[in-house]
Amino acid sequence: MRYLIAGNWKMNGTRPMLAELDRIAEAAAAHKGVDVAIAPPFTLLADATPRAGQVLIGGQDCHQAAKGPHTGCISADMLVEMGARFVICGHSERRAEFGEGDSLVQAKAQAAQAAGLIAIVCIGENEAERDEGRAVPVVAGKLDGSVPPASRAGNLVISYEPAWAIGTGRTPTMAEICGMHAMIRAKLIQLLGAEGVAVRILYGGSVTSDNAAQILACEEVNGALIGGASLTADQFAPIVLAAAAIAQ
Ligand code: PGA
Repeated sequence: MRYLIAGNWKMNGTRPMLAELDRIAEAAAAHKGVDVAIAPPFTLLADATPRAGQVLIGGQDCHQAAKGPHTGCISADMLVEMGARFVICGHSERRAEFGEGDSLVQAKAQAAQAAGLIAIVCIGENEAERDEGRAVPVVAGKLDGSVPPASRAGNLVISYEPAWAIGTGRTPTMAEICGMHAMIRAKLIQLLGAEGVAVRILYGGSVTSDNAAQILACEEVNGALIGGASLTADQFAPIVLAAAAIAQ
């Protein structure tokens, strides 16, 4: 399975930051065996897509409806018009800050897929759930509730993101990451049949150039979703390189 190395710029970046995208595009062009993606803020999409080269550009969120009175929201078709190829659905920051639950995340992912986008559906446990030993059932439940049942391998990516590992510099152990990804794979096959075999499962949470090679070497880790370390090409390009080295 081809690795997908995806960056989420979150609420960072105005036009000058597109210089970083130019350099990320150079890294992607140099490592064609790896899929590279960046989700800039909505306000940069129109400027980003023409200079992205092989880098897939996507949104960080979309509304579940096609159009209507939803002030401040963006539809999947609007993303498509800007050249987006994917959208992140149910990131833990959206779940925590805006109260998004599984059924809403599923509806957003469905709307994204209907518009022709790849839905990157994020699932993960928080610190209390992990401390209580409930990480596996919590993640399994989020998968059940958030994945559109008609998803195919071509329009769904899962990102396992323990909320407590995001932006903190802390990561689960390799055994925990590998175990969780194996569970997610089994569950995807249960939910989607043969399509579930080929859905990419990313890991997200404090991935850097220092730990990327180790994390990506895990059998069911098919890429990474990266926040902080995607903001500069200096930090992001070595992660693309690490994926390319393992893929060879
Ligand atoms: P981080 O963010 O890499 O800054 O931990 C990951 C994410 O939010 O997907």
